Amino acid sequence: MFRPVHYFGCFLLFVASILLVITTISAPIVNSISILRVDLAQNSSSITFGTFGYCVLNSAEGGDWCTGRHIGYDVSNELVRAESTGFSEAASNTANGLTNVMVLHPVACALTFISFLIACGAGLIGSLLGVIVAFIAWIVTLVVMAVDFAAFGIVKNDVNGDGTGSVASYGSAMWCLLAAFVIQFFGMVIVFFTCCSARRQKNRDRAVAEPKNDYGVHQKKSRFGRWRRN
Ligand SMILES: *[C@@H]1O[C@H](CO)[C@@H](O)[C@H](O)[C@H]1NC(C)=O
Repeated sequence: MFRPVHYFGCFLLFVASILLVITTISAPIVNSISILRVDLAQNSSSITFGTFGYCVLNSAEGGDWCTGRHIGYDVSNELVRAESTGFSEAASNTANGLTNVMVLHPVACALTFISFLIACGAGLIGSLLGVIVAFIAWIVTLVVMAVDFAAFGIVKNDVNGDGTGSVASYGSAMWCLLAAFVIQFFGMVIVFFTCCSARRQKNRDRAVAEPKNDYGVHQKKSRFGRWRRN
């Protein structure tokens, strides 16, 4: 009864980890996947900000130009050049500082995938460990999502508010992260409840089976044969 639901919960954890892969491989790994995308008004270029850096799509040099891959990078540098309106020092320091935390994208991804493996591999009863790992992964996702919205919220407001006509909007990596966060939650809750219900069921069966053992009858017939103790 619980088993198909349990596997659906596992499947959701798998889907969440795939979505987190997409966020992790955002620019400069895959140029066009962005957390925040800025379409410049002054020329036909766009800037895509990702987990480990950013890219300028259709740059003046022809083709895309990307930064190296770094933990933490300078968000404001390129924008100040492109927008020529500048950032407040505080806003730029905050946004730049927060990019260091984006290394948690792959961490959340790995933890979610591990929780999927445990929850799926350990079976119904043993998957409580999977739930614990899923919960930690979910907290990490929550933290890094809050950081992304904070850092790129600053940039987005600045770009959209400076009157240059450039447009900043959240990109697919951000929406994948948000979707992963929601899907992870449901996966975790489903695995938790199927796991606990199965445990309770097993204990109930054991309570029914044990008095019979006092009479030396080794009978373990339970309502659900597959949860018999052996
Ligand atoms: C547009 O401007 C940005 C910022 O100055 C620059 O990096 C980019 O190469 C420019 N693109 C074109 C096609 O000139």
